[in-house]
Amino acid sequence: MANLKVEIAGIEFKNPVLPAAGPPVRDAKAIKDCEEGGAGGIVTKTISTKAAPVPRPNMAVLNRARIVQMYNTVKNGKEQTLVKTAYRMDQGFINTELWTELPLEQWIEKELPSLNDLTVPLIVSVGYTPDDMKKIIPLLKEFDIDAIEFSTHYIEPGIITDIIKTIKSIMDVPVFPKLSPHHTDLLVSQAKEAEKAGADAIVAINSFGPTLHFDIYTRKPYMGSEFGFGWMSGPPIKPLAVRAVFDIARNVNIPVIGVGGISTGKDAIEHIMAGATIVGVCTQAIIEGKKAFGRIAREISEELDKMGFSSLEEIRGLYIKEMGAGQKVRIEGGIARLVEDKCTGCKLCERVCQYEAITMVKKEGIRHLLPEINGEKCAACGLCVSICPTDALYLEF
Ligand SMILES: Cc1cc2nc3c(=O)[nH]c(=O)nc-3n(C[C@H](O)[C@H](O)[C@H](O)COP(=O)(O)O)c2cc1C
Repeated sequence: MANLKVEIAGIEFKNPVLPAAGPPVRDAKAIKDCEEGGAGGIVTKTISTKAAPVPRPNMAVLNRARIVQMYNTVKNGKEQTLVKTAYRMDQGFINTELWTELPLEQWIEKELPSLNDLTVPLIVSVGYTPDDMKKIIPLLKEFDIDAIEFSTHYIEPGIITDIIKTIKSIMDVPVFPKLSPHHTDLLVSQAKEAEKAGADAIVAINSFGPTLHFDIYTRKPYMGSEFGFGWMSGPPIKPLAVRAVFDIARNVNIPVIGVGGISTGKDAIEHIMAGATIVGVCTQAIIEGKKAFGRIAREISEELDKMGFSSLEEIRGLYIKEMGAGQKVRIEGGIARLVEDKCTGCKLCERVCQYEAITMVKKEGIRHLLPEINGEKCAACGLCVSICPTDALYLEF
């Protein structure tokens, strides 16, 4: 079994999968369920000076049909409709949950005290302004807190330094700023600014937006915010998050905590290879439940074993090492090729080819049709290769 132990700013985590701030860590009870579900550490829901005025409704999946599938079956001669719930979403999630709805006093008097017996590291998420920090941080000093994460979601860029210095002047604790992808071109400069100001790690990224999703029949938005705007999370933001992690990790010398679109061990490994030291998971744990943390950690270990790695250090930043200098951009040449015995004749490649380079043809001795690739027309765009469910196609240059 690969070793999943990892350390950031002197804090030891038994595995690198933590909840990211959100409903799965909304109070002490939920946090303990995350610990039981196998999380390697805890990040709380973001605490601020005032309870958040959270609009209703405030959470929606972007494509319910893909989460809940109805199908008909016949049992004892009777037709019945069954509902199958998938635990993995692929279409993303929208929310306008802001920060914690619990008042600061409740966190201080009830929730944090009941986390005394937590067996994994505790990172408290706070927001937002330096003045908020002056009120919140002194109250946190009495607790056994391993680090403070602060959200930059609702502040103007440019006050990160001020926030880090304010927190550090009050409490001797590792500080992790969490960056939002509102201005994707500012992520690296914000990370560098934070490193210079004494941040101990960077968390990237928060949810993406604002975005809009409404019902075309009623013209009512799915979110209860003013215009129905909300923040997107889940699988669709993974490439944005992985790019952010890669760009930040190769530009700063402090650890990166990768968050965004992680549903599986492979997703977590992609973040880690892009430069993350540990990862945060929110949307997947909302959909699957809190055992998601332990499952993802197990999958990381299994996948590392399969790939022949024995620790997280061996894969951390591997993509930066191998691709950090960029690759030579190919403009010409290349053709898609078929591995015949892997093909099931599903025709997906033929349907998606934008160059009409693929035709399904009959071949002696094979029951299904096989794609025939026209070398004159194939533009080596790669789409057929990426969509093939059985990896029967590859590009040759
Ligand atoms: C319903 C919901 C509530 C969230 N609340 C917070 C929050 O209070 N503070 C924060 O920093 N991020 C919050 N986030 C953002 C997540 O921590 C995370 O950065 C983002 O959702 C991307 O990760 P994911 O794709 O695994 O969900 C929230 C996300 C969701 C979906």
